[in-house]
Amino acid sequence: MSDVLVGKGITKTFDDGRQSLPVLQGIDLTITAGQRVCVFGRSGSGKSTLLHILAGLLDADAGEVWVGDTNLTECSSKERALLRNRALGFVYQFHHLLPEFTALENVAMPLLIRGDSTKSARSKARELLREIELDERMEHLPKQLSGGERLRVAVARAVVGDPQVVLADEPTGSLDADSASRVMELIQSVSETRGTAFVIVSHDEGSSVYAHRTVRLSEGHLVGDV
Ligand SMILES: Nc1ncnc2c1ncn2[C@@H]1O[C@H](COP(=O)(O)OP(=O)(O)OP(=O)(O)O)[C@@H](O)[C@H]1O
Ligand SMILES: [Mg+2]
Repeated sequence: MSDVLVGKGITKTFDDGRQSLPVLQGIDLTITAGQRVCVFGRSGSGKSTLLHILAGLLDADAGEVWVGDTNLTECSSKERALLRNRALGFVYQFHHLLPEFTALENVAMPLLIRGDSTKSARSKARELLREIELDERMEHLPKQLSGGERLRVAVARAVVGDPQVVLADEPTGSLDADSASRVMELIQSVSETRGTAFVIVSHDEGSSVYAHRTVRLSEGHLVGDV
């Protein structure tokens, strides 16, 4: 199975001049095509920091991130943005949908950014929203959607461009148990139908039933089957 995302020796310390906080101390992580991996860890253990480094949104102090056969660490910010648009998806805890755009427009956005025609982007977004049973909500603004619906739209936006891997930072953290299960079921089904790998940060150990493997971030190290 090919590796879609590899972190090697990722190290990160936050230093505000007064205090030095070592958060990641040499993280190795390999995600293969289509694999779903849950990352657990207590609040403040560095889960978001790790995800941001894997997405090239934050620089590590040391180590490398490979997306397929591209070394993200060595890319310019322009190359990273291009790679993020084509090969990576990101789902945030609080969805981060664009408030002034409809669900359909939000899902079409990554395709428009990569240069697809409006017609083709909207048609692909419409098809995906239909597939995930949000056809009745396409023309709604984020504020007109429930929390669970917003997260499902955010998952659709992350996968619409068929990235190899999606990084999801506590996608269910703000939801009740039923909505959280629905979002995790959606992640599982889109991952299976499209072959998309997912790295899912979660507080809820129950999420592991949706994953192929789980790892735990503790004291700057990943423990488990990495
Ligand atoms: N930009 C920053 N500057 C200084 N310290 C930071 C910065 N970002 C994060 N930290 C610190 O690094 C540690 C890890 O933060 P991070 O957000 O990665 O944790 P987390 O595991 O995602 O927590 P949570 O589960 O609460 O989201 C925390 O102690 C946090 O205060
Ligand atoms: Mg976090």
